[in-house]
Amino acid sequence: MRSTKPEGLGDQSVQLMSRMKERRLRRGVLFAIEGIDGAGKTTQSRMLRLHLTQNDYEAVVFHEPTDSEWGRKIRDLAENGRTVRPDVELDYFVRDREYDVEHNILPALERGLVVVMDRYYLSNVAYQGALGINLDSIFKMNQFAPEPDLILVLDVSPKIGLARVKRRENGRPNHFEDLEYLNKVRKIFKGLEERLPNVQIIDAAAPQTRVFEELWNICIDYLRRKMGYR
Ligand SMILES: Nc1ncnc2c1ncn2[C@@H]1O[C@H](COP(=O)(O)OP(=O)(O)OP(=O)(O)O)[C@@H](O)[C@H]1O
Ligand SMILES: [Mg+2]
Repeated sequence: MRSTKPEGLGDQSVQLMSRMKERRLRRGVLFAIEGIDGAGKTTQSRMLRLHLTQNDYEAVVFHEPTDSEWGRKIRDLAENGRTVRPDVELDYFVRDREYDVEHNILPALERGLVVVMDRYYLSNVAYQGALGINLDSIFKMNQFAPEPDLILVLDVSPKIGLARVKRRENGRPNHFEDLEYLNKVRKIFKGLEERLPNVQIIDAAAPQTRVFEELWNICIDYLRRKMGYR
């Protein structure tokens, strides 16, 4: 007999998905900030939260991977080498995200906050997709995770991104950081624009304040246009 469970989803994912469906009207707003290593995601997420707060929007930033057991495993891979198969690595990310959705993202959205994601499942689409995993299957595995209202891709060349990371970390690159690989990752990120309706590509090679100006205009425009919000 065929199972009615969507392929590739664990029990927890199915429960989360039905919880999403129960709440037909989501109160909060979800922005995902994406891009390759050193694109400026953490910098811009923090600036965005600060400006949102100053404009009377209650906002929170969540960073992936989280500090869950699975997030720690992922960090260990980044530090010490990608010693597991790409599909196993992806499984760690999805489990970590299940934790994030359940404990952080859904509760914040239910409270009506603006949730800013410093990396989200589009990072899996790009990074694990660049290792050869089918993009559709990565999207499918993440169906339990609330869809972002806006996906903001900070676009920068791997050369610039890696130079920034090296400066930040005193020259110590991690195992996700390699020019050729990041070029593939960047390509997938840029390709999201054709695939999804709510993607904005932002030139992140510009100075921080210029990048933020563009990002801010997109986000505040969205919030102001969203009827009934606030
Ligand atoms: N537009 C910019 N121009 C120059 N330097 C920048 C810019 N944005 C961020 N930086 C600097 O580059 C470094 C990397 O930025 P940040 O940590 O925000 O990137 P990230 O995308 O979060 O990286 P990671 O993927 O490693 O988490 C930091 O030292 C930051 O101060
Ligand atoms: Mg960061």
